[in-house]
Amino acid sequence: MIYMDNAATTMHKPQCVIDAVVRAMSSMGNAGRGANDASLSASRIIYDTRERLCRLFGGTSPKQVVFTNNSTESLNIAVRGLLKPGDHVVTTMLEHNSVLRPLYEMEKNGVRLTVVKSDEKGRVRISDMEDALCDDTKMIVCTNGSNLTGNYVDIESVGKIAKAHGVLFVVDASQTAGVFPIDVERMNIDVLCFTGHKGLLGPQGTGGLYVREGIAIRPLKSGGTGVQTYSKSQPAEMPTALEAGTLNGHGIAGLHAALGYLEETGIDAIRKQEQALMRKFYEGVKDISGVTVYGDFESEDRCAIVTLNIGEYDSGEVSDALLTDYGISTRSGGHCAPLMHEALGTVEQGAVRFSFSHYNTEEEVETAIRAVRELAQEE
Ligand code: ALA
Repeated sequence: MIYMDNAATTMHKPQCVIDAVVRAMSSMGNAGRGANDASLSASRIIYDTRERLCRLFGGTSPKQVVFTNNSTESLNIAVRGLLKPGDHVVTTMLEHNSVLRPLYEMEKNGVRLTVVKSDEKGRVRISDMEDALCDDTKMIVCTNGSNLTGNYVDIESVGKIAKAHGVLFVVDASQTAGVFPIDVERMNIDVLCFTGHKGLLGPQGTGGLYVREGIAIRPLKSGGTGVQTYSKSQPAEMPTALEAGTLNGHGIAGLHAALGYLEETGIDAIRKQEQALMRKFYEGVKDISGVTVYGDFESEDRCAIVTLNIGEYDSGEVSDALLTDYGISTRSGGHCAPLMHEALGTVEQGAVRFSFSHYNTEEEVETAIRAVRELAQEE
């Protein structure tokens, strides 16, 4: 099978990640819940993973790294835990439902929302985001890279605006963590939300937030923490404040190994490889008669995603044909980014997304180009 659905989850993981999860499954105790060897070694590995993530994201303290199950949970914590009735928040049409749905919920509770429009190529102007700010704006929340088009959002520029206007800046790094350089200090990011199973190459069920020191987020959940047992409240210290219940230690052990792999290999090398495969595919399909490719390919920086349609062919049928006839896995239909589909005009048809990892090969890309050409000829 040719796996080109890496924006959904990277399926091929480094062997060290698989080995680390298997090892943890037979040796890991519950972190922070005992003084036995198994528990202590879990605590060490989890703390070391916080350190690796803090280093990767340019943070100031590993204690500010909070583990969650995925970006969706992280974004819910940030949005619901920071906004209150009367606040205004600015976001964009590029967002995934993991940003939009918590925001729509907050709207029902008296939060005012401005969604900055994109053009038909899925580009958003940073100046439009600045123009949307007003006196009661509490937060800008936006993605670093569209999961539908692959367009990259210049979060460093957005961070400058957020800082200049004194508003919180929350970033959805689902498509970029582990692939693009992210520096929370330089980019003025207050809360960075990430998942472990995409570019970070870790297991599903891992993810987290990096929270700038000094920012207090109301926890979504409370419960066992292994500390302050007799207190009626959730401890206020980070990261415990936002981590009730047993962590996914087995998954975090895998993420730990994945971060080691990324440090050794280098995310710049990985990104260049992925981007070269994406560009090769784009160049091979963009001029095929009947093919519409979505997104901005003029910018150098973009995620390794190429999304397209073939004539009026239903995107689900194209995806099925790709799998059945060529063994190529893609994603089709709606991609949980409803406003982006509106902007691209693909609400009815959906779209076929090819997303690449550094484990893909040039031969696989050539097969995918041939497949699109042949399907377009049939249409
Ligand atoms: N958000 C993931 C995707 O874009 C699952 O496919």
